[in-house]
Amino acid sequence: MARIIAGVSSSHVPAIGAAIDNHRTGEPYWQRVFEGFERSKEWMRNAKPDVCFVVYNDHASAFSVEMIPTFALGTAAEFPIADEGWGPRPVPVVKGHPRLASHIAQSVILDEFDLTLCNKMEVDHGLTVPLNLMFGSPKEWPCPIIPLAVNVVQFPPPTSNRCFNLGKALKKAIESYPEDLRVVVFGTGGMSHQISGQRAGLINSKFDHAFLDNLTKNPKKLTRLSHLELMREAGAEGVEMVMWLIMRGALDEKVDEVYRFYTVPASNTAVGHIILENRIKGAKKPAAKPAAKGKKPAPKMKRAAARQKIQRIRS
Ligand code: DHB
Ligand code: FE
Repeated sequence: MARIIAGVSSSHVPAIGAAIDNHRTGEPYWQRVFEGFERSKEWMRNAKPDVCFVVYNDHASAFSVEMIPTFALGTAAEFPIADEGWGPRPVPVVKGHPRLASHIAQSVILDEFDLTLCNKMEVDHGLTVPLNLMFGSPKEWPCPIIPLAVNVVQFPPPTSNRCFNLGKALKKAIESYPEDLRVVVFGTGGMSHQISGQRAGLINSKFDHAFLDNLTKNPKKLTRLSHLELMREAGAEGVEMVMWLIMRGALDEKVDEVYRFYTVPASNTAVGHIILENRIKGAKKPAAKPAAKGKKPAPKMKRAAARQKIQRIRS
């Protein structure tokens, strides 16, 4: 059976994509951001998921303001890169997983979440930037990606609670897929930011840190956040964080936070990132080969040591 091994959340600031595309990642301003994702890429190289399910939002790229679905599932075999005004980003086309996507559609819709099905859809920075942050810039993305576009651009977006419950339905759907696939679920967008109006430039680190703490330990508390609270505390675009709750709802109740990174700002945004692992046996890819005779196998990292490592990373 398929299983969800972990959840990953990260901001999707378009200027991060532009820094990659224009070879500016080594500049001091950007270095600080990219350094924070070095361990994440290492984690991803070890995790080697078979499929990633990416919850993101479209920024009037695939869907114009003429038509805005609340939840749009990408069921296609391929998702071309959208032109957001400067030509499509020079990143590989995103390959889907139509069979798993179709299974998810059947399970989730019959579970009373009315998804829009997209058999043709372009994807914008909301999806491609988190892929770059977690996979770097490979010639091909290393696994199929199933996109779920969530409306956070026109009022009313789905509520925090609705998103968390959709995550639960997604978990049920993925875990009932008969093939042995290891799946990572992404929640993207956020953290605090507002890009226009009187409060443009707003960043609320205190709120963001509390959100990250609760995401790991007490996500139920976050499901009570109204849109008004989210926008008041985290800015108008901070409402993107409802998407992180879909990721969290898809995980088990208790998870291990294995990595967290936060830096301010990148463009107008507080960049936040977290990796949460389910505590299932064999969540990690099995060691490649037994150690050769006479060689000691590398010691496994104990949970306490892992926790210490997280503390070091956070500080
Ligand atoms: C910025 C952040 C976003 O999430 C976005 O969609 C567009 C711009 C920014 O910080 O510039
Ligand atoms: Fe955005």
